[in-house]
Amino acid sequence: MPESSLPKSLSAQGLRAAFSGPMDAGIAGFVASTETDRHLLDADLRGSLAHVAMLEACGVVSPEQAGRLRAGLDQIRAEGLALDPDYEDVHMNVERRLEELIGEDARLLHTARSRNDQVALDLRLYVRDCEAALRAALSDLTAALLDKAEAHADTVMPGYTHLQRAQPVSLAHVLLAYQAAFARDAERLRQPLISPLGAGALAGTAVPIDPLLTARLLNADGAFSNALDAVTDRDFAAAFVFACALLAVHLSQLAETLILWCSREFDFIRLPDELTTGSSLMPQKKNPDCLELVRGRAGQCIGELVNLLTTLKGLPVGYNRDLQETKPPVARVAETVLASVRVCALAIQRMTVRREAMRQAASDEKLYATDLVERLVAQGVPFRTAYAAIGNIARHGVPFSQVSADEWAALGLSVTPETFTPEQSIAGRASHGGVSPARIADQIAAARAARREDLP
Ligand code: ARG
Repeated sequence: MPESSLPKSLSAQGLRAAFSGPMDAGIAGFVASTETDRHLLDADLRGSLAHVAMLEACGVVSPEQAGRLRAGLDQIRAEGLALDPDYEDVHMNVERRLEELIGEDARLLHTARSRNDQVALDLRLYVRDCEAALRAALSDLTAALLDKAEAHADTVMPGYTHLQRAQPVSLAHVLLAYQAAFARDAERLRQPLISPLGAGALAGTAVPIDPLLTARLLNADGAFSNALDAVTDRDFAAAFVFACALLAVHLSQLAETLILWCSREFDFIRLPDELTTGSSLMPQKKNPDCLELVRGRAGQCIGELVNLLTTLKGLPVGYNRDLQETKPPVARVAETVLASVRVCALAIQRMTVRREAMRQAASDEKLYATDLVERLVAQGVPFRTAYAAIGNIARHGVPFSQVSADEWAALGLSVTPETFTPEQSIAGRASHGGVSPARIADQIAAARAARREDLP
């Protein structure tokens, strides 16, 4: 094609070379993805820089052209770019701006690439960045939980099942349960990065490119194996949103626990003024609104998972514009859970523990029934027989402390007031993962070792 017949402006021709007129303004606004795409700008530029390097290495563009493309892309990266919805998405906005900056060479950038593989890459890079940010925030939260656990290995409290007092535990034991859940969440936020760039629109390209090189330049863990799958696959987005939704569920559970604990009914912890909100009417109120919002926003995250999966479920293989709608759920859950993780870390760091109130609640004698059963078991009484014998006493409503030494002796037990102290009860439960101080120390040491291994 002679130079003069090339379209002069990408802004007019980039997407509509075969059209006789512009898109209806209402339709243009409807199809644009610039609102969410602002999150993808840096990823888009990194992808383009890798693409240019690959095109140069394959001899598709000259080193001079590559240099000019790189300079323009770097400039956009440094300056940022306000995305104009008239240019549909981040990809076309970047191309337009690049043409403003470097002129005709900008037209080389889209060689052997489609927006279909480009957006798939951008979203993958963005998800990887979000995973890193969330893992860092989770690391602060798990550190706070471990520190508090270490400080409260001998702070005793009732452990609950069905929200009924069950057996004495330490506060450390409860905090470590949450720590374990968040450590699993952090592991789920570590997906391999598979580069889809170079898949083209759906079927590869006749231009001699090297998508494996692009993948290496992007520090990816691999490249796509099938071009059609590369542009269709949003599994990583679904897995990310699921990981965030489950994390949000865990955060909500922690929030609910802390909310209960700071109610006067439990009164196990207090939150400092800087983390609580007041009432417009009742001057005495200090409310844990931030934790209530952590709990409340978990619903949004679960909703986004359903949103995303529902978007995907009806799609035939290949790029369909519905896939544009997979981006907002990713951005929204990432933002929501990141803020919630930070709130929970602050609450754990700054809460005041009311040891006496916890100990008082753990002194409820009924919590020691299982200890008595296990002492009989240790003497060779079959479990179910021992369970019935202690249950029989509990059924008659006589407090354990009022059962006489003779009656205990008849059962083969020597019971002293010590039997009903939380410290003694806890020290006895030294099985793997149990609540005894030695097992708690093991758990803390193992969790700290896992964190050290995790460091880059
Ligand atoms: N804005 C689109 C998205 O976010 C980019 C891909 C558009 N591709 C296409 N063939 N219309 O998914």
